[in-house]
Amino acid sequence: MLSQTKIGTLLHEDHMATIETLQGLEEFLGRNKATPKLDDTAKAFLGHLAKTLREEVEKHFGFEENHLFPVFIERGETGIVMMLTHEHRVILPLAVQVAELATAAAESGFDAQNWLDFRDAGSELVEREIFHVQKEEMGLLSAISALVAPDVDARLAETYREVVG
Ligand SMILES: [Fe+2]
Ligand SMILES: [Fe+2]
Repeated sequence: MLSQTKIGTLLHEDHMATIETLQGLEEFLGRNKATPKLDDTAKAFLGHLAKTLREEVEKHFGFEENHLFPVFIERGETGIVMMLTHEHRVILPLAVQVAELATAAAESGFDAQNWLDFRDAGSELVEREIFHVQKEEMGLLSAISALVAPDVDARLAETYREVVG
């Protein structure tokens, strides 16, 4: 792992949890080619997926945009902020759409159309969000180490625990 900062470590842990969630989704999509009949395990999986997807994008993205990126902008690092914010704008509605479809399916199953929508949005989400997390793991965490002073690091870590949990 690249970063020795407190906030870098917290974001990294979150990223690993997100990758695990997305891999779970990818496996579910890979196991089910045609519209699946959902047993209790599959319904529980979809309910859990909806909850974690929402939390991960809404809280984690919110923290990055409202608390971390302003520190970068203060230091003149607008390019990386614009790129990552743009990716958030694409990923967040996609994650919410997948979460909504998963919630509905956990309650009343998939019909053919819902399944196609879930499969398409789900695989696009997996691809885009894994790529986004990888980019942050490679570029953002080392930039934090280079740019964020220890007192700002401590403040960000505290805010993170308040906002993300
Ligand atoms: Fe991000
Ligand atoms: Fe992130």
